[in-house]
Amino acid sequence: MLSAAEEVDRAARRVREWLGERRPRIAVVFGSGLGGLTARLAAPIRLAYHEVPGLPSPGVAGHRGELLAGSLGGTSVLCQSGRLHGYEGHPPARVVLPVRVFARLGVEVLVVTGAAGAINRTLEPGSLLLLADHLNLAFRSPLAGPALPGEERFPDLSQPYDPRLRALARAAAREERIPLAEGTYAWVLGPSYETAAEIRMLDRLGADAVGMSTVPEVLAARARGLRVLGFALITNRATGLSSARLSHEEVLQEAARGGERLGALIERVVEWVGTGREPTEGVGDGPRSQS
Ligand code: HPA
Repeated sequence: MLSAAEEVDRAARRVREWLGERRPRIAVVFGSGLGGLTARLAAPIRLAYHEVPGLPSPGVAGHRGELLAGSLGGTSVLCQSGRLHGYEGHPPARVVLPVRVFARLGVEVLVVTGAAGAINRTLEPGSLLLLADHLNLAFRSPLAGPALPGEERFPDLSQPYDPRLRALARAAAREERIPLAEGTYAWVLGPSYETAAEIRMLDRLGADAVGMSTVPEVLAARARGLRVLGFALITNRATGLSSARLSHEEVLQEAARGGERLGALIERVVEWVGTGREPTEGVGDGPRSQS
C-alpha cells in the first residue's frame, strides 16, 4: 500500500505530465452545480479524475469529476470541477488529494466554492457569502495521521481565509455591483440535511451558512501555506427557516442561477492576483463587519 505522501507524488506526476509547460499558481475548486463556471476558461484542457491515479469519479449529480487547465482573466489556472465528499464515504485524505497535488505543483492561491444553506436570516437564496471563518462540525480532518512532507503539523487557523484576498473579493464585488455578504461557514458531514434543532444550534454557535464541503480543502491548503479565498453560494434557507422541503435538485438549480455572478467575481480576483494589477485604492484588508 502506498503512503499518503506517495499517493500525492504519484497523482502529481500524472497531472504535471498533462499540464506540460503550464505552471498555474492559482487553483479553483468548483462545488455543487457550479461546474458551469468552467465555461469562463479560455483554451481549456481537461483530465478526467479516473485518469489520475488515486482519484475516483465523483458519485453525486452536479459534480463532473475533471481537472481543467486554462486561462481565466488572462491568468493560467488549474480547476477542479466536481469534488469528492466525506458523505460519499471518502476518507478526508482522498477528498483533499487534488488540493495536495495542486500545492505540490506550485499552486500558491486556492479559491474554494460550494453550495450552502442560509442560517443568517439576511442571506437570500441566490446570494453570495464570502467566507471569513469556519466551524469544523464534521469533527474530521485530512491532517490527522502522519504530517506529510511540506505540511505543518499544527497549522495556525487564526486567518484561514486570506485577509488581502477577501479585500480584493469585496473590491471586485463593488466593481461588478454584486452584493457580497461575509461570514462564517459551518461544515457538517451530511448527507442528510439538518434538522431544525440542529440549525438553531448552528445559529447559536455563530454560523451564517451551512454546507457539506469546503473545509477539508481549506485545512489541507493552509497546512501547506497556500492563501485561501472561499465563497458559498446560498442555495436555500436552512431547515426550519422556511416551510420548503430541501432537495438536492433545488440546490443545483439555485447554484446554476447564482453561479454566473460568482464566476464574474472569481474571474476578476484571479485576474488581479495573477497579473499583479491589484487595485490599491479603497482596498483595505481589515475585517469587515459580519453580514
Ligand atoms: N445544508 C447543508 N448543506 C447544504 C445546504 C443545507 O441547507 N444547502 C446546500 N448545501
